[in-house]
Amino acid sequence: MEVWAIVVAAGSGARFGGPKQFEKLGGKRLFEWAVLVAAQAADGVVLVLPAQKDARAADAHVVAGGDRRSDSVRAGLAAIPDTADVIVVHDAARPFAGRHLFDAVIEAVLAGADGAIPGVPVADTVKRVTGDDVAETFDRSALVAVQTPQAFTASALRKAHAGDPDASDDAALVEAQGGRVVVVAGDPANYKITTPRDMAYAEWFMGQGGKIG
Ligand code: CTP
Ligand code: MG
Repeated sequence: MEVWAIVVAAGSGARFGGPKQFEKLGGKRLFEWAVLVAAQAADGVVLVLPAQKDARAADAHVVAGGDRRSDSVRAGLAAIPDTADVIVVHDAARPFAGRHLFDAVIEAVLAGADGAIPGVPVADTVKRVTGDDVAETFDRSALVAVQTPQAFTASALRKAHAGDPDASDDAALVEAQGGRVVVVAGDPANYKITTPRDMAYAEWFMGQGGKIG
């Protein structure tokens, strides 16, 4: 059984105000924390960096990303050997993802799912809107907020990316192909660094003894 991981770190960080994946936290850059845990959980790691960045990374094969997140995942996929059975996709912007999350999603795929994703309960009520008008209110108890790492059979992930589709996560592409994606217990601490406030919270959390990985 061969497991590979793709760490996507090729975004521009528009909401952060710059490429947040290179910010330092606890002595390492955010993408380095993501590679570190992915390398423990997988047999090989492909790190996807912005095209202009000429970086080397220990424990990873480095490739250049694309304009959209899905383009960057595809750049990573192209570098993964055909012998891979399971592929895990992880955001560099989630430094608090623990090894247990990687193991849980990989295990769920080995148990027979096409894909497995970590989900956490939604705290806010979520509504669909058209402009400023509310069109629909969802039943919160039926919703989960979804994180990475996300694991897939290599065949389901490759099929889902054929034709260069775009979505905010890979599971959506696998679902669109009729694949069975299951949710495992996510970790509220594994939030995504999106804005500078998220980074300030991460620093505070580390100072409180919060653990990375
Ligand atoms: N990502 C990527 N290639 C892209 C876009 C995003 O590799 N073209 C990566 C980001 O580097 C990040 C992860 O996908 O690790 C999640 O994306 P997001 O949090 O949206 O990061 P950015 O796209 O960089 O931020 P923003 O949407 O605010 O511009
Ligand atoms: Mg983005």
